[in-house]
Amino acid sequence: MSYETIEVAPLSANIGAEISGVDLSQRLGNQTFSEIHDALMEHQVIFFRDQLMDWEQHKAFGRRFGELHVHPTAPSPEGHPEILTIRGDAKSKRVAGQHWHTDVSCDEEPPMGSILHLHEVPVPGGDTMFASMYAAYEALSDSMKEFLADKCAWHESEHVHGKRYGHKGGMRDGDESPFPKALHPIVRTHPVTGKKALYVNANFTTLIEGLTEKESDVILGMLCDHIDTPEFHCRFAWRDNSVAFWDNRCTQHKALWDYYPKTRHGYRVTVQGDRPV
Ligand SMILES: [Fe+2]
Repeated sequence: MSYETIEVAPLSANIGAEISGVDLSQRLGNQTFSEIHDALMEHQVIFFRDQLMDWEQHKAFGRRFGELHVHPTAPSPEGHPEILTIRGDAKSKRVAGQHWHTDVSCDEEPPMGSILHLHEVPVPGGDTMFASMYAAYEALSDSMKEFLADKCAWHESEHVHGKRYGHKGGMRDGDESPFPKALHPIVRTHPVTGKKALYVNANFTTLIEGLTEKESDVILGMLCDHIDTPEFHCRFAWRDNSVAFWDNRCTQHKALWDYYPKTRHGYRVTVQGDRPV
């Protein structure tokens, strides 16, 4: 892929690229927008340095990619339901996203992407790991791919969000519970690239439909171990005002909490996605 308005420097063989030559606080021209979208499709997660955006500019950047998603349970700043606060500090008992996951996969239509802007980061520490679910799927044997091809799994949220947030956010319109759950295919096809990606994660996925609990635990355990393979990963070292934009349809991520009692703080805007198929 060639780029004319931005520079794209890959971070690893399978996933991740750092983008330079763009100011995300300004409205993007069509060519720049299209190249950022292409880079996201090619590298699955993209990173930007030295970005100064307020909440409105952050939301405007997200809206170029689609409607914004509202988290089912997390509290948000007054008047900004689309803003998710991310914070770890000396008072934290846990931080968000410490296990491999894709964001809010418990939703019927989970987010297509998440855009995290960190304003204050510990140095060193607080890196985020990203894993390519294309690479994870491709590395499975043909027999395992065949076994998984028609399987679906439940993604539940009460055991994840109940502990972390209680129910501090307002209930979303149309939700029957603050803790949604959904049945998704284990292998999904990316709606833009057409590539297959593994779509189970250690946080939300609880049971493979049609298997016994014991069978399901073994297969899910094997898949979650498989996702932990370093060749599928890249690791991003944040600095103040870095931005990461990941495609939840083909990646997972894990936030490292190695910085206690220092502070890591910022905001996430999340872009709505489609029902996985
Ligand atoms: Fe996350």
